[in-house]
Amino acid sequence: MDDTDPSALYSYVVNKLNDCNLAYLHLVEPMMPLDTFPHMIKEVTKFFRPLWKGPLITAGNYTPETGEKAVEQGIADMVAFGRLYISNPDLPERIALKASMNEPDTTTFYAGGEKGYTDYPNL
Ligand SMILES: Cc1cc2nc3c(=O)[nH]c(=O)nc-3n(C[C@H](O)[C@H](O)[C@H](O)COP(=O)(O)O)c2cc1C
Repeated sequence: MDDTDPSALYSYVVNKLNDCNLAYLHLVEPMMPLDTFPHMIKEVTKFFRPLWKGPLITAGNYTPETGEKAVEQGIADMVAFGRLYISNPDLPERIALKASMNEPDTTTFYAGGEKGYTDYPNL
């Protein structure tokens, strides 16, 4: 979502959400180059971590390794995976075993059918 002043707007929103007794806040890092959007927040999880008082989930371009580091560093409490989970239905087992991953097939994203959603192989 864009805004002329995203840091001010979403700092206000996150502060207000603190009063709503929510289970968690889930943030997604920007998924595109921000060169032409200098006003956008570049590292949203690091930015909002000090403002949010509850459990924080982050996502966006994480690997199991970078996700683990983010949790160790306290940047987030949990890391969610999107594309890696779509292409690896047994993602938790693969992470635990440090196994190789199926590559996501971007041509099947948002394609509307079952191909690319239910036919990736398990280990
Ligand atoms: C095919 C596809 C469909 C998605 N659908 C949604 C959606 O409906 N709502 C949403 O908030 N995010 C959606 N996402 C974004 C993911 O939830 C996730 O935030 C994003 O892919 C970043 O994580 P990743 O780098 O691990 O893929 C979708 C992503 C993909 C690839």
